[in-house]
Amino acid sequence: MQLTLKVALAFGAFCTHCAAQTFQRLGTCPTLGCIIPPDQADFLPGQRFDIRAEVHAPLNGSEAIRGYTTPDANFTLTIEREGGSPQPVTSFFSLPEPRLETWNFTWYEDLFAQAAHTPSQVRVASKAWRNVALYEPGQYIATLRYRNGSQTTLANWTVRDIAPRQRAKNVIMFIGDGMTTNMITAARLIGHQQINGKYQTRLAMDQFPMLGHQMTHSIDSFITDSANSATALYSGHKSTVNALGVYADSSPNKFDDPKIESIAELFHRLRGGGVGIVSTAFIADATPAALTAHTRDRSQYGAVVDSFIHGITNYTWTNWTGPDVLFGGGAEQFYPGSGSFQGKDYYEVFAQQNYTVVLNNTALQASDNSSRHLGIFSVSNMAKWLDRNVYPANLNRSKTAPNGSNASATDQPGLKEMTIKALDILQTRHSEDGFFLMSEAASIDKMMHVLDYDRALGELLELDDTIKATIAWLTENGELNNTLLLVTADHGHGFDVMGSVDTQFLNAQDGARDKRDAIGTYQNSGHSQYVVANSSARVGSDQNLVYGPGVNFPTNWDPRYTLYSGLAAFPDHREDYRVNKNGPRVPAINITGFDDDDFYVNYVDAVTGFIVNGTLPVSADQGVHSLTDVPVFTRGPCTDLFSGVFNSIDVFYGMAECLGLSRTSPPS
Ligand SMILES: *[C@@H]1O[C@H](CO)[C@@H](O)[C@H](O)[C@H]1NC(C)=O
Ligand SMILES: *[C@@H]1O[C@H](CO)[C@@H](O)[C@H](O)[C@H]1NC(C)=O
Ligand SMILES: *[C@@H]1O[C@H](CO)[C@@H](O)[C@H](O)[C@H]1NC(C)=O
Ligand SMILES: *[C@@H]1O[C@H](CO)[C@@H](O)[C@H](O)[C@H]1NC(C)=O
Ligand SMILES: *[C@@H]1O[C@H](CO)[C@@H](O)[C@H](O)[C@H]1NC(C)=O
Ligand SMILES: *[C@@H]1O[C@H](CO)[C@@H](O)[C@H](O)[C@H]1NC(C)=O
Ligand SMILES: *[C@@H]1O[C@H](CO)[C@@H](O)[C@H](O)[C@H]1NC(C)=O
Ligand SMILES: *[C@@H]1O[C@H](CO)[C@@H](O)[C@H](O)[C@H]1NC(C)=O
Ligand SMILES: *[C@@H]1O[C@H](CO)[C@@H](O)[C@H](O)[C@H]1NC(C)=O
Ligand SMILES: *[C@@H]1O[C@H](CO)[C@@H](O)[C@H](O)[C@H]1NC(C)=O
Ligand SMILES: *[C@@H]1O[C@H](CO)[C@@H](O)[C@H](O)[C@H]1NC(C)=O
Ligand SMILES: *[C@@H]1O[C@H](CO)[C@@H](O)[C@H](O)[C@H]1NC(C)=O
Ligand SMILES: [Zn+2]
Repeated sequence: MQLTLKVALAFGAFCTHCAAQTFQRLGTCPTLGCIIPPDQADFLPGQRFDIRAEVHAPLNGSEAIRGYTTPDANFTLTIEREGGSPQPVTSFFSLPEPRLETWNFTWYEDLFAQAAHTPSQVRVASKAWRNVALYEPGQYIATLRYRNGSQTTLANWTVRDIAPRQRAKNVIMFIGDGMTTNMITAARLIGHQQINGKYQTRLAMDQFPMLGHQMTHSIDSFITDSANSATALYSGHKSTVNALGVYADSSPNKFDDPKIESIAELFHRLRGGGVGIVSTAFIADATPAALTAHTRDRSQYGAVVDSFIHGITNYTWTNWTGPDVLFGGGAEQFYPGSGSFQGKDYYEVFAQQNYTVVLNNTALQASDNSSRHLGIFSVSNMAKWLDRNVYPANLNRSKTAPNGSNASATDQPGLKEMTIKALDILQTRHSEDGFFLMSEAASIDKMMHVLDYDRALGELLELDDTIKATIAWLTENGELNNTLLLVTADHGHGFDVMGSVDTQFLNAQDGARDKRDAIGTYQNSGHSQYVVANSSARVGSDQNLVYGPGVNFPTNWDPRYTLYSGLAAFPDHREDYRVNKNGPRVPAINITGFDDDDFYVNYVDAVTGFIVNGTLPVSADQGVHSLTDVPVFTRGPCTDLFSGVFNSIDVFYGMAECLGLSRTSPPS
């Protein structure tokens, strides 16, 4: 025990000097002249987008220039296909000259300026050219000349050479939000039986023939959020934290940022194919939102829901008319009230467009597949797999009924039920022109944030069960060889498993240092003690649960020997390494009498455990995303486009290429 304990202590080398915080005037614009899309941007031939130029005049702060306090209004933006001659953007795209816009903004240059409340002020002159597209593959050079032509900013854009040749009829994109290889490995351990080091069954995603890695960093930060990364995955353009389907500009209007057409909008506009959007999150959350929303502020939830049905209402350039399927949580943006856009009843707005509206699993399964469907099954994020299947009493406590009545939402579908129903509807409506379906296991991320690893892994196993059911559905419906299947993530969390924990021994110790002796590493890790339901359908020890043949979930979530797992960055919390039977964990709280951004260990969480002091700033009550590359599993047509290590944006170009969505000449 002494020896293994030393090894365990050596692990505790967490970063304690992570104070470097960087602040940017505008992430896409290191100089005082900004071209958006910025240098290095890639485009699908024929993809619609907006262009914005900004000229910044800093009034004070480190960038201020003597005598230059008014940004010049007569800046010019030209564009040329490399080797050609530059033309004003206005004539290049045959647009009317846009009006000059001006505004001011402030930003903090560093932590000292923020602490002293001394923001730097910037005046801006800008123009936006909207709804343009580049068709001919090649390099394009955009040049901004400002300050009477004395300063120049260049943007070198690439229109990728992608032929409009269709190789797949359908694409199904599974996103395990925040899902890393480490989590997949842990889920496999608890959900699949091993004998003498050999797994007897494998995850469905493990059996995909192609595995690649995508780099998730964003345009101006190496740690991404889900909005930013969804924008990259769906539009082929890296963006800024919190931005959905746009490059963030510096203007106060959150809806005027330069937009980029998404895979869903392209597929609808060019093919008229079906689009399905399924998530276990509130449906206005970033990963579903980025398919249709265009705002730099992901928290505009009401407007996001409006965008699902109406597309871009101001600055229009798509003919979006709503998805065939929209399933998830987030009823607070649908029933009339403060959460919905302009207080309207969005159940009614969808119903008026002939959507079938369903609010529970029974109604979902019973409804006719021929109409478009809106299914909203709870307020906020949907219930977790573990609560729906193992601790259902937690559902009765949640006041999340989707009609806003404050009753419990006890009849919620899981990701599998929503996804298979979505496929039934898409196939009924689009058996000729195909479909694009995005299905998100959102709470892998949400449960990792709150250090609830059991629930996160339950969500991951549910995702895998959904993938298995999807392959069976595609086989039955004769669509397997026509469908590109992707399983990927939008970013990671610093999670891993380092051994096992004897929770009985841990409970029997009094002191925190003694409790840590319950952790077993290397040879003391032993085998997984989670009992796996397998083809011989077992009965769970505490809940009398029986799973059907071939379904791989543990039946006992509270074994004596659990996983010694954790995150690389966390708030103050307690740890007992046991499943939280009362619902998702709340690791850190704001104790009365302290500042509202000062979080301490939650004393009613993991009560038999010991305190672990946080490594994040005390304003954090949750874990955070991490840098790691994330896996991209593919099967079906076009897997050759997803091998090796590539960028998050390449996922978009691969899907668009496979669906044949590039257009190398303008529509006639
Ligand atoms: C921007 O700031 C300048 C100088 O402080 C001020 O004169 C101007 O009115 C401001 N413009 C806007 C649009 O707020
Ligand atoms: C810039 O000027 C504003 C207004 O006077 C002031 O509040 C702010 O602290 C100044 N910022 C810096 C970095 O000096
Ligand atoms: C540009 O030149 C004009 C005429 O010489 C001058 O009035 C103006 O201040 C200059 N503007 C800038 C931004 O330097
Ligand atoms: C506009 O810019 C041009 C150079 O690009 C300069 O010659 C001219 O003086 C500028 N005009 C004003 C009003 O700033
Ligand atoms: C634009 O980028 C391409 C590809 O990286 C490069 O070959 C070309 O030289 C660049 N052009 C300019 C003007 O920077
Ligand atoms: C717009 O969308 C429809 C599908 O609803 C599609 O069939 C059509 O081709 C698109 N029209 C244009 C003009 O892009
Ligand atoms: C679009 O413009 C209308 C009319 O000005 C406004 O009521 C609405 O809030 C705008 N929509 C968004 C998403 O900003
Ligand atoms: C809805 O259905 C009705 C009756 O079939 C039809 O008249 C109407 O045009 C439909 N509306 C839309 C928006 O599809
Ligand atoms: C499910 O929804 C239907 C209406 O769509 C309703 O009649 C039924 O009572 C609901 N069931 C539950 C359990 O809420
Ligand atoms: C898939 O199989 C069907 C029926 O066998 C065939 O018609 C179709 O061309 C195949 N599609 C691809 C992409 O191979
Ligand atoms: C934190 O506590 C303070 C003081 O008790 C309270 O005013 C604030 O609303 C709390 N904040 C949160 C996020 O709970
Ligand atoms: C946690 O940090 C506090 C100081 O902030 C220290 O007093 C305490 O001993 C630490 N607790 C543990 C368990 O390390
Ligand atoms: Zn997250």
